[in-house]
Amino acid sequence: MQAKMDIIHISAECYPVAKAGGLGDVVGSLPRFQNELGHHSKVLMPMYRTPYLYAHDWEVVHKASTNLGHWWFDYTVIKEKTNVQGFELFLIDINGLLDREKVYGYEDDTERFSAFQIAAVHWMNTWNALPQVVHVHDHHAALVPFMMQHCYAFKRLQYIPTVLTIHNAQYQGSFSWEKTLYIPQWDSWKRGLLEWKGSINPLASGIKCSWKVTTVSNSYLHELRHMSNGLEPLFEYEKGKCTGILNGIDYTVWNPENDKYLTEHFSVQDAEAGKEKNKGILCERFGLDPQKPLFIFIGRLVGEKGADLLPQAIADSFKFIGRKMNFLVLGNGNAATESQLTMLQSIAQADYNVFIGYDETLSHQMYAGADFLVMPSRVEPCGLNQLYAMRYGTIPVVRSTGGLKDTVIDVGDPGGYGITYNDATVGDITHGIYRAVSLYNQKEIFRSIREKIMDLDFSWHRSAAEYVSLYQSFQ
Ligand code: ADP
Ligand code: GLC
Repeated sequence: MQAKMDIIHISAECYPVAKAGGLGDVVGSLPRFQNELGHHSKVLMPMYRTPYLYAHDWEVVHKASTNLGHWWFDYTVIKEKTNVQGFELFLIDINGLLDREKVYGYEDDTERFSAFQIAAVHWMNTWNALPQVVHVHDHHAALVPFMMQHCYAFKRLQYIPTVLTIHNAQYQGSFSWEKTLYIPQWDSWKRGLLEWKGSINPLASGIKCSWKVTTVSNSYLHELRHMSNGLEPLFEYEKGKCTGILNGIDYTVWNPENDKYLTEHFSVQDAEAGKEKNKGILCERFGLDPQKPLFIFIGRLVGEKGADLLPQAIADSFKFIGRKMNFLVLGNGNAATESQLTMLQSIAQADYNVFIGYDETLSHQMYAGADFLVMPSRVEPCGLNQLYAMRYGTIPVVRSTGGLKDTVIDVGDPGGYGITYNDATVGDITHGIYRAVSLYNQKEIFRSIREKIMDLDFSWHRSAAEYVSLYQSFQ
């Protein structure tokens, strides 16, 4: 029996408390699976004004004051009383700074997440029993390892092992040296551990200071050495401490047999009928034809996801393949892409629809009712959509990059079950759609692939255990 470990995850997101993307899903489930392995894993995140906050009971566990540069602030740590998520959940409340409706997107995000991290470390510094691992996620928490090791006030924490998981290296949280006072009094010989290309770069600092760095797939880790928004040499230099650990998915939330967002449940045994019912509901709501294969896209409408290529790829599919399929898009983000996708409705009419916005319920209904999921990502550190889609019997049509490369094997290759293409271009996407329509018309093969993907195992058990063995390498 392995020794029980105390682990704290520090993150800006955690589903269902607050989620902007896959980071929330991961931090909302990984700790529970670590606890199931017999460890004591908990989560610390900012207190936003989300519906979750009002729907649960909280107790105050700590109150204190500290400072962000010249600004003194009070913070309160509250804990969800019942551990309903399967782990202890702590929120840091900083009045006026963190308690907003959205997770990100404010002008003072640098101040918000700097203050959050200072309060996190300030609070941990008061604990009698220190954790065995501090596991931080993405740039919003990536200054924590530096603060623990090189800020004079927190020296007590300096020997605690730290792990940084990079879910997305595009965003690094850089800010100018003019804000150097945002880091509590620190050893100025260590300036190099904060800096990257002339700025304070939290993600780069996390990579330099964490004991281990993980990325959410192996292929993404290799890609980062060639393409990581300026950090390429750092990933090359630090490769010895980096590992790729593929995300899992939480089958207690993502299961077509009992998904709380679906009215028509199904399993692999009755997938054909179950998916048909779900498709019928979707097509009715969005004015689409259930006889045709239904392609969906769900995600942030940003360049990384290749969302800007969708309007042309959809228009070209109609032009070159014919009106043989339906498309339904759910997403929000880039204003130009949003408006192109909206305008496409007038030319595509009955074979296309779009929902601009974020809608958790609709996303589940779409995974359940669709035949194919299109994911033309330029960058995809892991990607959860394709894993959810497969669980719900929806075949992924993806660009082979990052986590998509590690989880989707092309039907043309041995053991394959998806459709892949090499480039994030309109031509490659359209060709992928063409292959998918042909597959749809080969009913027997289509059905057997659908059954196969529903049975693939991408559960958290394997990944949660991999993280634990990484932590155990510190002992
Ligand atoms: P990323 O974190 O880069 O956005 P992932 O594939 O890891 O990409 O995770 C995206 C998560 O966010 C999935 O759970 C997906 O269903 C969800 N999602 C993305 N956009 C939307 C949206 N507009 N409405 C509902 N869910 C969405
Ligand atoms: C990021 C990535 C995505 C990954 C998610 C969870 O947002 O863009 O690919 O699945 O984090 O790790």
